[in-house]
Amino acid sequence: GKVRAPTHIISTISDDRGEEPCYAGVPMSSIVEQGYGVGDVISLLWFKRSLPRYCTKFIEICIMLCADHGPCVSGAHNTIVTARAGKDLVSSLVSGLLTIGPRFGGAIDDAARYFKDAYDRNLTPYEFVESMKKKGIRVPGIGHRIKRGDNRDKRVELLQLFARTNFPSVKYMEYAVQVETYTLSKANNLVLNVDGAIGSLFLDLLAGSGMFTKQEIDEIVEIGYLNGLFVLARSIGLIGHTFDQKRLKQPLYRHPWEDVLYTK
Ligand code: ACO
Ligand code: LMR
Repeated sequence: GKVRAPTHIISTISDDRGEEPCYAGVPMSSIVEQGYGVGDVISLLWFKRSLPRYCTKFIEICIMLCADHGPCVSGAHNTIVTARAGKDLVSSLVSGLLTIGPRFGGAIDDAARYFKDAYDRNLTPYEFVESMKKKGIRVPGIGHRIKRGDNRDKRVELLQLFARTNFPSVKYMEYAVQVETYTLSKANNLVLNVDGAIGSLFLDLLAGSGMFTKQEIDEIVEIGYLNGLFVLARSIGLIGHTFDQKRLKQPLYRHPWEDVLYTK
């Protein structure tokens, strides 16, 4: 019989060998004809399956709400400085993207990991938060530079409203809210932030949709798919900031001396 030479690459999400490319087995023409959106494409290419409409809509809302947050945040700041240094689009974009991490936009996966572990182990919010404090770890998904208990993050409220209306269960989100109630009793800036809201709600999406086995959920959380939502979303804004700076013909940025404390 035929002997197949061993391949150097294994790929399971897309195939461009036929007349038209397929995403997880779904041909491009079906994607267009059936009116799929970007949430469906993410479902196919990241999760290798079509998800129910409320799930793809939730993904799209995450992308829209995280697309930008003004020029002052870490990512936009880096992109603006890079664009003003005369660099190209890709350099300006990645310069901003490189700030996404445990403090800024990249706490979604850890929020999902810690909230899931604490909920599944039946820890009370008090036990969870205090055990994190003992370990010297800030609770991912909690805290914000400008949002407060009396000035909540509108994005979090919008995500929660959508999930409460459309998800079969929001148990992880409710747990995150209980954690927030406890952290807010300690300090007014320790709100549930957008990373924590997406992390906990994505757990609810994965567990409640009936589309994933327990093992698959564990794998998604362990590998860390969810920061990808923020990376993807914020790329939209960072590209916009690059164009904005170029359109405005902004000169090389130099930080003012007055804003630096020179000291020994
Ligand atoms: N868990 C527990 N305690 C916290 C947390 C937290 N997540 N955040 C702040 N605190 C407490 C700590 O006691 C901290 O003191 P420390 O510096 O000794 O640890 C104190 O509040 C003051 O913290 P600040 O450093 O002033 O808080 P800041 O406003 O600089 O930090 C930040 C904001 C970076 C978001 C922080 O709250 C944090 O690290 N949160 C966890 C990571 C996270 O969720 N990031 C995503 C934010 S949303 C976004 O980027 C889109
Ligand atoms: C963001 O989405 O960039 C913000 O939540 C971060 C910030 O510090 O405002």
